[in-house]
Amino acid sequence: MATAGFSLIPNANPTDARVREEILANPGFGRFFTDHMAHVRWTASDGWHNAEVRPYGPLTLDPAASVLHYAQEIFEGIKAYRHADGSVWSFRPEKNAARFRASARRLALPELDTETFIGSLKALVAQDIGWVPTPGSEADESSLYLRPFMIASEKFLGVRPSKEVDYYVIASPVASYFKGGIKPVSIWLSSTYNRAAPGGTGFAKCGGNYAASLAAQKEAEAHQCDQVAFLDAVENKWVEELGGMNLFFVFKDGRIVTPALTGTILEGVTRDSVLQLAKDAGLKPEERPISIDEWREGAASGEISEVFACGTAAVITPVGQLVGENERITCTAENGGEVGRSLRKQLLDIQYGRSEDTHGWLTRLA
Ligand code: COI
Repeated sequence: MATAGFSLIPNANPTDARVREEILANPGFGRFFTDHMAHVRWTASDGWHNAEVRPYGPLTLDPAASVLHYAQEIFEGIKAYRHADGSVWSFRPEKNAARFRASARRLALPELDTETFIGSLKALVAQDIGWVPTPGSEADESSLYLRPFMIASEKFLGVRPSKEVDYYVIASPVASYFKGGIKPVSIWLSSTYNRAAPGGTGFAKCGGNYAASLAAQKEAEAHQCDQVAFLDAVENKWVEELGGMNLFFVFKDGRIVTPALTGTILEGVTRDSVLQLAKDAGLKPEERPISIDEWREGAASGEISEVFACGTAAVITPVGQLVGENERITCTAENGGEVGRSLRKQLLDIQYGRSEDTHGWLTRLA
């Protein structure tokens, strides 16, 4: 038995410790995976069952599995941080569990309870604890990125909710999401594509949202930009989010604004934490609609002094430039912005156990 009802099938051929250390020294993002994965099966007749930690490896899926045709799939992103005493912690995993259930409801998938969700993280991390990087310094923000996901695995081509579903967690040691570390990124403003429409799946963390962002991301790369920003689908006027991150606008008078959650924006855990940390720091956080013209004019006049993106993978990353068909607006100084830098440090200090967890955000995994 592994943790909390998860049975264990150990990997008979785990990665050699020397190879693992080489990977941990330079993991990049999402390229390497640990020796095990967690799995729980669901069927309409039996509900959730067969919780196990088993060797990491390819899945056997019937070619007619509905996820391959109709994208009935959801996922999460959470990091496991090693503290100085060797213990391993995650950040607000109950928020991820709640969002996973909200995503499941929208995608007509079965809901997984918080206890099993967090239990699956604990079971996997306990087994693969040697894969959780030990940061060498405060500048080293390596961690073990946990990726829970749920797929519709029934062999059936009719369009209806699958009667067979599999939930997995895989784990990948990671360093910073962007290749250049935390230097400011450039953002392409898509005028061709929208990410989400009212009543759609924008608030859910489902693969389809990310698939739909890729053509826009290609457009961004063709314009030498790192990421793409999406506007709302109704008026093409209101700023929503990037391909996989929320946005914040820092005003020089102390206001810090992020687009309000209207159902088309992902309810980011980092976004919510930044709002709290900003309040704690005496800033004036505002969740409200912000138009692309307010962004343009504010950045041009200096009223907006910094813009940053945030997410579990990206933490807090400054936005250097907003680039459109006929525009290039500087949003944040080349060395990043002070407010974003300070919030980033506060967040990382809590996550890595270097400062007091006054909000009770950490859960011990191992
Ligand atoms: C995360 O931040 O964890 C995500 O899932 C977004 C993706 C860009 C990696």
